[in-house]
Amino acid sequence: MIPIARPYIGNEEIESVVKVMKSGMIACGGVVKEFEEKFASFNEVSYGVATTSGTTAIETALKASGINVGDKVLTTAFSFIASNNPIIKIGARPVFCDIDKDTFNISPDDIEKKLNEHKDIKALLIVHLYGQSCDMRSIMRLVKEFDLILIEDCCQSHGARFEGKIVGSFGHAGCYSFYPTKNMTTGEGGMVVCNDEKIYQQAKMYINHGMKKRYYHEGIGFNYRMTNIAAAIGLNQLDRLDDMNNKRKENAKYYDENIENENVLIPFKDKDCDHVYHQYTLKIKNGKRDEFVSYLNENEIGSGIYYPLSIPEQECYKEMGFKKDYKNIDVVKDEVVSIPVHPALLKEDLEKIVKVINAF
Ligand SMILES: Cc1ncc(COP(=O)(O)O)c(C=O)c1O
Repeated sequence: MIPIARPYIGNEEIESVVKVMKSGMIACGGVVKEFEEKFASFNEVSYGVATTSGTTAIETALKASGINVGDKVLTTAFSFIASNNPIIKIGARPVFCDIDKDTFNISPDDIEKKLNEHKDIKALLIVHLYGQSCDMRSIMRLVKEFDLILIEDCCQSHGARFEGKIVGSFGHAGCYSFYPTKNMTTGEGGMVVCNDEKIYQQAKMYINHGMKKRYYHEGIGFNYRMTNIAAAIGLNQLDRLDDMNNKRKENAKYYDENIENENVLIPFKDKDCDHVYHQYTLKIKNGKRDEFVSYLNENEIGSGIYYPLSIPEQECYKEMGFKKDYKNIDVVKDEVVSIPVHPALLKEDLEKIVKVINAF
């Protein structure tokens, strides 16, 4: 089976983990600090705060930016549920938007519509889905006009850019995941990045029981600290990130140039975006998506449906009364399927995948 995702772990990662283990300083310490500084610099911002996951990074970013119980947060209805659950967890209230049917990202037109319908929206949480930036020109115009707090979920878009500017540097805070399927990994882990010193200080306290001075708790916080072990992996992965992203882009280019099937649409690439292909997501037309997935499976090609339901349709939100129908999501969720695009793919894997798809 050609897997849909595979982390690339080299000897450098293994050796630096062993070094941390031998040092005895395995919890949060100097290696985490170095990773935070290097990741912030990569992200062209002033500060980084490492966390235990992308989910806790989003929760931390929301709290550190001043989102509280009862605040309304506008967000996309089409993402991994972890982009939304932190809003619920802190007692804020999501208001969902539809997506653009080509890019799969939150629709600026729907953002504007919802902002005019709900005059009390405090923040906007966007997700740069599958590795491609949202339309930041339209979004930044709305953020300024409506004076919103902007949080960017960059969990699928390490290194992606819009008109040359790196994602995670547009808003008040950017949030990353380093889960093993992501463009870079630390095993489990996450990061909040920002330029605002106050948000940075708040985030640092929130992930460490609300303390600056040991055992003096200025605010409510938790233990969301990254370990030195995870950060050691992250430092090596960060060194490889450009190469790994370039390999993803090359794989995507190969698919773009070679997939030919009337039932299969290749991903739309926005000319203003530097897409880092966390996923290479096809649209399968004429109601054939599920048949296509079984066919790939029979041919030992892994695939993934990201996502079969909109967020508000999920069972866990049943009692919350969210609007469940979204014009574009309702079409797209039955068409999308992602195929392997990760950097560990071999030339023969790519050739096989194209041959199988073209024969569907
Ligand atoms: C868009 C998005 N948001 C949030 C998350 C949560 O990240 P994590 O799994 O590290 O908690 C993920 C990844 O799983 C994701 O893809």
